[in-house]
Amino acid sequence: MRTYLKKLGSVSIVAMAVVASSAMASGKVTGADYANGKSIFENGKGDVPACNSCHGATGLGDDNMGTPRLAGQIYQFLAKQLDDYANDRRMDTTMFVMNANAKGMSPQDRKDVAAYLNSVGRVFSGKQLQEASGGSDMAALKENGVEVGIAHMGKVIVNFGDVERGIPACLSCHSHNGRGVEPMYPRIGEQKFTYLVSQLKKFRDGSRTNDPMKQMQVVAKTLSDEDILNVATYLTQAPQTTMGNTRVPVEYLP
Ligand code: HEC
Ligand code: HEC
Repeated sequence: MRTYLKKLGSVSIVAMAVVASSAMASGKVTGADYANGKSIFENGKGDVPACNSCHGATGLGDDNMGTPRLAGQIYQFLAKQLDDYANDRRMDTTMFVMNANAKGMSPQDRKDVAAYLNSVGRVFSGKQLQEASGGSDMAALKENGVEVGIAHMGKVIVNFGDVERGIPACLSCHSHNGRGVEPMYPRIGEQKFTYLVSQLKKFRDGSRTNDPMKQMQVVAKTLSDEDILNVATYLTQAPQTTMGNTRVPVEYLP
């Protein structure tokens, strides 16, 4: 029985990997119009404003507005978030704009802009990823009076969690330094600090509930305010690569 279950487990993992890679064959999303996605990001479309007016010229997000980095985020995750806003499964309670923005785009537009954003800023030479860190400048935030955490305390939670307090290691789902796992687990490393803090609090207080199987709501409820500041302080500056190894694993190549 045990071997049977084990086998079943590995079969479904293989199946998931095949699904993920078929959507991303040769790094490009099949059926997505990248030029249309770029145009929406830079100019908007109809009543939908240009995305770069809030998400930054290069899609790296903005701490003053509380907007997330979108550049280099996992395609399937971005597409899901836009669908969730369009269908009111996720409510933008930060600036109250994203539900209208998503509704203003056709399903194809949402796919196009998600595919474009996944590719933004990702330049590869050989197998080496060269992209702007895009994380928050923690010294500047602190100087502006923003309450920040302690990076090395956050690192412990990201890598090991806290067994006694029931906190799982973030990397068990989001991978090393939160670099993300297709198709479901978003990249949270080098994400903006303010956005990381706001989303962890929204999952904790139940104002964001679009996570599959309540996975993030369960995790967030184990975190104190201090834990949230600490993990966000660590993650915003956490590189995708491992120490002494400048390569990003092949599955992270676009
Ligand atoms: C007026 C400012 C504004 C504009 C314009 C804007 N956004 Fe947003 N966006 C936000 C804010 C604020 C959030 C965070 C909302 C929340 O807390 O749920 C957000 C969140 C998102 C998310 C969720 C990302 C994640 O990591 O979960 C996506 C995807 C997104 N925006 C895409 C877009 C696209 C595509 C456009 C252009 C069509 C756009 N946004 C235009 C302010 C904006
Ligand atoms: C059991 C798996 C699991 C674990 C463990 C986990 N997460 Fe998540 N997390 C998810 C899933 C799934 C999502 C995507 C939710 C969605 O689709 O909207 C997510 C989303 C997020 C987001 C929102 C990202 C965005 O761009 O909107 C943040 C921030 C986050 N997680 C932080 C953390 C932190 C910090 C930890 C460790 C304390 C952690 N997660 C542990 C499953 C997990």
